[in-house]
Amino acid sequence: MQTHDIALIAVIITANWYIFKYVLYSSRKRLPPGPRALPIIGNAHQMPVKAPWTVFSEWNSTYGEIIYLNIIGQPVVVVNSSKIAKDLLDKRSSIYSDRPVSIMCGQLVGFGPAYAMQNYGEKFRKQRRMVSQGFSVAKVPQYHGLQEKEGAILINNLLKSPGSLFSEVQLRVGVVILRIIYGYSAKLATDKLLTNAMEMMEIFNKTAQPGNFLVDVIPSLKYLPRWMPGSGFLDLADAWRANVSNTARTAYNWCKDNMESGEAEVPNLLGNIMQEAGHEPSLEERENFTWAAVGTLGGGLDTSSSATLSFMMAMIMYPEVQKKAQAELDAVIGTERLPRISDRAHLPYTRSVVAELLRWASIGPLGLPHTLREDDVYEGYHLSKGTIVIANIWHMLHDPEIYDSPMEFIPERFNGDDAEMAKVSDLVFGFGRRLCPGKNFAEGTLFANISTALATCRMLPGKNEKGEVVLPNNAYTTGITSFPEPYTINLLPRSAQAAALLAEASVTAE
Ligand code: HEM
Repeated sequence: MQTHDIALIAVIITANWYIFKYVLYSSRKRLPPGPRALPIIGNAHQMPVKAPWTVFSEWNSTYGEIIYLNIIGQPVVVVNSSKIAKDLLDKRSSIYSDRPVSIMCGQLVGFGPAYAMQNYGEKFRKQRRMVSQGFSVAKVPQYHGLQEKEGAILINNLLKSPGSLFSEVQLRVGVVILRIIYGYSAKLATDKLLTNAMEMMEIFNKTAQPGNFLVDVIPSLKYLPRWMPGSGFLDLADAWRANVSNTARTAYNWCKDNMESGEAEVPNLLGNIMQEAGHEPSLEERENFTWAAVGTLGGGLDTSSSATLSFMMAMIMYPEVQKKAQAELDAVIGTERLPRISDRAHLPYTRSVVAELLRWASIGPLGLPHTLREDDVYEGYHLSKGTIVIANIWHMLHDPEIYDSPMEFIPERFNGDDAEMAKVSDLVFGFGRRLCPGKNFAEGTLFANISTALATCRMLPGKNEKGEVVLPNNAYTTGITSFPEPYTINLLPRSAQAAALLAEASVTAE
């Protein structure tokens, strides 16, 4: 029997059950509007494979701001309006804060114990509290020195080798996150813990991406015997599971042992958590500490890299914005030193650039899905327990009714008003009890990278083999975290003094 035959049989058996439930259910309840569903598969055939956020956005004009989909019996609601997202995910967060069951990523590959994957329960709350406290507004300034230094190293390295833009950004973000979470300072790109952590995140991305594995739609496939054709994903899951578990534990043990020996750099998130516990962790605590750290690592790596790459792309595409921000930095900071995160309060235009970046770029266009824990009624629509709620953050931030010329990068749209800028960060970091716990930290990293690049460099488009200037086409990959498609850049120091400041900061500052 071929792989697709087995899959088809499984689809039919599972779908029959779901369709029975669905028909019974939908005949009684009023559901939000949505595209017409087919028997058995529901709307599965209409689920966009590429950039689903733009398709959901187009559906807004046909079906409205709340759209109902049935994916082989699984109810899904897409929300295109910030008001509805806040009504449900913020105001009713006591019932809208679970996560969908993830068979491949959560159960088979083993990311399940990390709080980002957990339902809103005791285990989630314990891990999440540790991280939220560690990244509170009061605590993040302890990391500013490191973020500034890493910003300087990143830009210094890019000046030397603009061709390695993508790998360098990911590497530097990885170094910062490992340092912040575990106190581990990776010196080389080939460092084992660093490469393992990056590989772990690649596995996370591959397996968490909805639609990549059939077993997430048909959970019973996880019981396929190993000899059966089509069960190859189980062997893959075993290999990945070993890798994930090994990296998670190695990183935890390194931090624990080296906090004791004094080799781990401080402050670091996990070290602080262990110190605050104040005793040898129990088995349960060890488990929670391990996965609190891994969950945070996962949340921080790709998002910060994507945002930094989107920034460089925006500066190439909008040179007049670049010049205006540079003029502000020169006027406020001068050219004798590099900007610091604490300068943020005096740099309204640079703050607007950061806010516009978060609005314009597609970093996490659909956020992370929430799941409804009990039946609910909203504006007369019945939403059943287990419904997956997807907030189309991209649409909310590109809605022409709210933002004029939404596809253009225009920091002036905020008029320097921080309340207007806050409306962006209120959406882009998610909702309610699942709001991004790394928000304060991420904003520091972004400001450090952006202000350092602006103060010291001219960011210009790269050239192709024929020597022709090539502009980025502002296209993004599809994924939970979305990245700009590869583009080339040319970086030049704004002055010899700027280059010297960068070189010096890369070695000494912290
Ligand atoms: C520009 C950068 C970032 C953006 C745009 C961003 C955005 C988001 C969004 C939209 C969510 C989903 C919230 C929800 O479910 O409603 C999220 C969750 C999360 N983020 Fe971030 N994030 C960023 C950076 C970071 C950083 C630097 C860290 C850690 C150091 C981090 C850690 C996490 C974690 C652990 C979660 C899962 C929280 C949970 O499930 O309760 N993020 N983020």
